[in-house]
Amino acid sequence: MQNSRRKFLQQIGATSLIASASPFTSLAAQEKAEERILHYGKAISPNDKIRIGVIGYGVQGHFDLRTALKVPGVELAGICDLYPGRLDNAKEEFGNEIFTTRDYRELLNKKEIDAILICTTDVWHARMTLDALAAGKHVYCEKPMIYKINEGYPVMTAAKKSGKVVQIGSQRVSSIGYAKAKELLAAGDIGKLNMVNAVYDRQSSIGSWEYTIPKDADASTTDWEKFISITGKKMPFDAKKFFWWRAFKEVGTGVAGDLFIHLLSGTHLITNSKGPESIYSTGQFSYWKDGRNMPDVMSGVMQYPDSPEHPAFQLTLQVNFISGTGGQEVIQLVGSEGVIQVQGNNITVKHSLMPEAPGFGGYDSLFTFSKSMQNEMQKDYDAKWTPEQRKRKTKEDIVFKAPAGYSDHLDHFTNFFDAIRTGKPVVEDAEFGFRAAVPALACNESYFTKKIINWDPVALKLK
Ligand SMILES: NC(=O)c1ccc[n+]([C@@H]2O[C@H](COP(=O)([O-])OP(=O)(O)OC[C@H]3O[C@@H](n4cnc5c(N)ncnc54)[C@H](O)[C@@H]3O)[C@@H](O)[C@H]2O)c1
Repeated sequence: MQNSRRKFLQQIGATSLIASASPFTSLAAQEKAEERILHYGKAISPNDKIRIGVIGYGVQGHFDLRTALKVPGVELAGICDLYPGRLDNAKEEFGNEIFTTRDYRELLNKKEIDAILICTTDVWHARMTLDALAAGKHVYCEKPMIYKINEGYPVMTAAKKSGKVVQIGSQRVSSIGYAKAKELLAAGDIGKLNMVNAVYDRQSSIGSWEYTIPKDADASTTDWEKFISITGKKMPFDAKKFFWWRAFKEVGTGVAGDLFIHLLSGTHLITNSKGPESIYSTGQFSYWKDGRNMPDVMSGVMQYPDSPEHPAFQLTLQVNFISGTGGQEVIQLVGSEGVIQVQGNNITVKHSLMPEAPGFGGYDSLFTFSKSMQNEMQKDYDAKWTPEQRKRKTKEDIVFKAPAGYSDHLDHFTNFFDAIRTGKPVVEDAEFGFRAAVPALACNESYFTKKIINWDPVALKLK
């Protein structure tokens, strides 16, 4: 028990956290991590064992499972995937005795499984979440929670009714860095928020979703008919649609569902927002001519209304898959007195304050007037404003860094399992997942229809 707790503390970077006295380390981060560690110490007991099953053992299924198993008391009870190569891979990793299946219902039927991790292609998320809840399981479902906006309503209802924990997998919202950004914004550190500019650029084939396709991929090894059955459409086998699904609208949600969603969930967490009231998006095919039917360069513009949670602000979103920047991920929150830049788990705050006095002279129309007018007005200005009032006030810039080895992914899973054990709310429940998914999916809708999508973020209805 002690050992597993010690291991856990090392994994979340807690030891370096406690030891660190760097002025750059977020105080809130220390408090939060310490609080979580103390809390966790109490929660671990033999009764607290949680057995999990994984549906979708592709790239993220691997990362999610590895991370989930780092949380003390969590055990693997079975893995489901359509492609047998991934089930072979599971047996190579966890031994022949591990239960594997190509039919996720077999996993849901297992009584000993407490929680299901849904890490499949987006088009399956809602169906599997509903089935898992109906089977009495807690659910961790990857982002985006849904593939179509309408799928969100039954998922939210089922999550509420079930009394089970549902957490959506935008792990960044559990980041101590994001918590710090939220705290700084609420404290008025950058004045009044008016804009958020968020960018997620890449410049590589893998970053643009051209993952390696195994040599044995065919209709039978991918269980193609089952894979597309959820779409209700007939489609000839296409290995790209199975392995590069993000790039195809029939089964994927493009850059909006894959990456805008991270920027949206981050923005919503930090600003406490319920969501935008209007959404517009534009896209183009710039570089990856590989048969994809979803753009590789896309921008979104959204208007967030004045609300009890935040003042009105605009959100610009951008994904560029052939970006000469080499790639970047940043959410920049701009206020009247500064900016907060969120990059990974690190936060940079820069300030710029306007002087109290209005401008006079310099690059101004003043010099175009007659000398006597200039002199008279200069006297008036000097009488009204002190030299102090004419200066920009300065406020220090600060960088907050997460401790080395810190993992928001592990924090997100810890939060999920904590909620199962203690009944505490999760960071990203079905409603949060829906509120982030809607504007992302609305970007696709706007791109295809070339229309502005209007949304009521309070009533949760399209207008
Ligand atoms: N949170 C993050 O940062 C993050 C990162 C990457 C991916 N994701 C999400 O994780 C999910 C999976 O992405 P990925 O990159 O691992 O994709 P992937 O293609 O590598 O894996 C998806 C797996 O799901 C399986 N699958 C599909 N339909 C199935 C079904 N009906 N039954 C059983 N298995 C089925 C496929 O066989 C495949 O192995 C996506 O929703 C994606 O958006 C999240």
